[in-house]
Order: sequence, then C-alpha cells, then structure tokens
Amino acid sequence: MTRIARRLLDWYSEHGRATLPWRVVRDPYYTLVSEFMLQQTQVDRVVPKFEAFVERFPTFDALANASTADVLRAWKGLGYNSRAVRLKRLAEAVIERYGGRMPQATDELLDLPGIGPYTASAVRAFAFNVDDLPVDTNVRRIAERVGSDLNPPRGKAHDWASALMDLGATVCKARAPSCLLCPLRGDCAWAPLAPDSSAPAQRRREDAVPFQKTARYARGRVIDRLRELPPGKRISFLDLHRDLEPLLPGRTVDDVRALVVALERDGLIARDGESLTLAD
Ligand code: ADE
Repeated sequence: MTRIARRLLDWYSEHGRATLPWRVVRDPYYTLVSEFMLQQTQVDRVVPKFEAFVERFPTFDALANASTADVLRAWKGLGYNSRAVRLKRLAEAVIERYGGRMPQATDELLDLPGIGPYTASAVRAFAFNVDDLPVDTNVRRIAERVGSDLNPPRGKAHDWASALMDLGATVCKARAPSCLLCPLRGDCAWAPLAPDSSAPAQRRREDAVPFQKTARYARGRVIDRLRELPPGKRISFLDLHRDLEPLLPGRTVDDVRALVVALERDGLIARDGESLTLAD
C-alpha cells in the first residue's frame, strides 16, 4: 500500500463515520437507498430518514411492490421527491431483470434506469467492495488538490471511498479547508498554497433567489398537500391552489397547474381531469 493510502485509511479508522447505517450493512439495496437520499440531502438529515425508509421497505421487492403514493409518503422531509419515484422504478427493474439480485458488472449496472457512472461505482465499491471509486464533487476536489488519481488500494474500495467522502466533508472542504488536520498534507500539491482557513466563508450573494420563491419549493408544497390527503381522496386544482395560497403567495391557478403538469410528467402525481392525487 502507498504512503497516501496508509495515512488516509488510518485517518478513517480514527475519524471516519464508519457507523453510518448504510456503511454498517453492506447491501446493494441499502447502498442505493442511501445514495439516492444523499444526492441532494446532507448526511445528518438522511440518517433518520434512511433508517425509517428501510424499515418500511426493507428490500427491492418491498419497494417494487409498494404504491408510489406510499413511497412518496415515506420520502416526506427529504425533498426532491422525484428521487423517490426513480428509486422505485429502479427497484422494479432489479426485480424484473435480476429477481432482486443486484448485478456487479458496470455495464449491467449502467443499463438499469436511474443508474449513472457515479452510482454504478458506488454500488460496486460500497456494496461489493470491488475496486472502483465513486467520484463525487468531494472526491474530485481532493484528487485535483492532491494531484493524483486516488485509485483504491486492492480490497479496500469500501473504506477508501468512505474515507475520501469523509475527508472532503470535514477537512478538505471546498472553502476554508483545514489543511493542518489533513492526513494527506505531506503528499498534497495544494496544501502549501491553501488560503488561511480562518478566513470568513463567502456570504450568500445579495441577488440570489430566496428558496421560497423557487419552483422546487413550490413543487415540494404541492406534494406535501397531496401527501396529507386521506387514502383514496383526491383534490381539485382550485382547492389545491386555495390551500397553497398562504405558502405560495403570488402564484396563480395557472402557475399551480404548470407545477402539477410537470409533477405528473415526472410520475409523482396522477391526474384525472381536474382532480389530483399522488401517483399509484
Ligand atoms: N457514504 C456513502 N455514500 C456517501 C455519500 N454520497 N455522501 C457521504 N457519505 C457517503
């Protein structure tokens, strides 16, 4: 093993988050649920949602056979709800094509719906511990700074990828990295040039759009309202618009209609004329 590898793996055994629930159980279903949740949500917020989700839907089979509406209810609090629909479609494909046994080969993984190069490598490294490295923004940043490609040491793919992700999240941060605490400092091309990490983080740009004005926020509120409907109940456009008015001031009925059309296209909503419910 190289010096870099030894230092990073030693650092991981001391400082890494090896007890995250999707790291303790090495199972492709757990890997996929966690990766879909982690796509746009922070680790701390994902942990309780992940635990509840895999308890409710413990296997590909359970998820594939659940209704979309139930899966969307279990996704509550995570946001970016179309991830839940894509995850369910992926589970259906794993059941149909492989009887619930996830393949290991990259070409077979890439052929499944919802799996791109990052997620294929994540399944290989995290679930199967085969030599591969899922390169997310943290890992890419570390590779660029250190100045090497950071291939995993043989047989260590799981801990290697976990270590790089933890290092990127806690030490080799985009802004204000803590180079003095970094196990790779001695081998890093960038560390000697790093700006003082006590410098204040950049402030949010004055002209950035507030979150409550974004389409993503509005889509989330539409799904929240539909999640509240009792089983079998539907809601009209007009009632939906009226209920959401306090949360979405200034949005017209047509604005809400456009949101609903997009959510229907993405498979989250079922529409029957003027009446709406979560997709089945
Ligand atoms: N562990 C496994 N996948 C991860 C991710 N995407 N972010 C942080 N930690 C992870």
